[in-house]
Amino acid sequence: MKTSEESQEKARKRYYDIVGDWNIPIVHMGGLSATDELMEMLDLNESRGVIEVACGTGYTTCRVANTYHCHITAIDYSEEMIAKARERAQKEQINEYIAFEVADAFNLPFEDNTFDVAFFESFLNILAGDKDRALTEIVRVVKPGGYVGANEVFRAESIPPELLNRMKEALQEMALGPGGNLGRFTLREWKKCFEQSGLTVTQMVKQKAESSPLSLKDLIDSLGICGSLSLMTRMTLDVLSHSELRASMWKAIPVRKIMHHKDTRKYFGYILITGKK
Ligand SMILES: C[S@@+](CC[C@H](N)C(=O)[O-])C[C@H]1O[C@@H](n2cnc3c(N)ncnc32)[C@H](O)[C@@H]1O
Repeated sequence: MKTSEESQEKARKRYYDIVGDWNIPIVHMGGLSATDELMEMLDLNESRGVIEVACGTGYTTCRVANTYHCHITAIDYSEEMIAKARERAQKEQINEYIAFEVADAFNLPFEDNTFDVAFFESFLNILAGDKDRALTEIVRVVKPGGYVGANEVFRAESIPPELLNRMKEALQEMALGPGGNLGRFTLREWKKCFEQSGLTVTQMVKQKAESSPLSLKDLIDSLGICGSLSLMTRMTLDVLSHSELRASMWKAIPVRKIMHHKDTRKYFGYILITGKK
């Protein structure tokens, strides 16, 4: 990695460490209902060995373990995210089903063909690095005949060229912060990425971008009213006191404006995609 890329990656990781400390339950389009739908598509049950990549603060991990009673290993490269995830699993008394590890998705500390199922939510599209390489590494640890599932943001093929250029420029600006490739790939590109990594695509469900990464309802459902208010206060204080965090968030505004504006959000959505190894 070149030095400038290295320092960008460090800045990105610092961002995730600060955000991890906020203990936000989930940060992906479609919210909890998208998570539940993806898990149904993966046909989970208690006999499956599962890995979740880029688990964040482990909300989905605990939900899956609670629902399906399967053994699940969950990794994230942010130590803060994993610390919060461990606290969550302990609080929910679901530890016996879960092993959390700090690990880089590009270099998973597991043997080839270890898991029956791998999944991730809003991971490849926030990577600034090579998403094909990251997915190939995930596929490596899945058994032949096993499944990989994902929830990722896509853009429509029909996006007007002027808007596409605006989006590319906004993404370029945002490259220093998180959200590297958010909304850059079409459904066709996601399918190709799965196929190039050695998977046969089994299901693809596309949804409009109507619901935000975490709706107020999901937030209150998962944290309660007091918890939600305390999170918002914490976020405001951190944004005011961390200039780097403020800069990252500021740079993300043009992308979010395009993806959520009433005239342009129709060109974006999330895809639930599964593939068989
Ligand atoms: C947008 S968040 C999504 C978190 C969670 N999956 C969710 O849906 O709420 C992206 C996560 O990817 C993690 N991440 C980014 N790059 C990573 C890498 N190379 N290896 C492991 N985790 C990574 C970040 O720390 C962060 O927790």
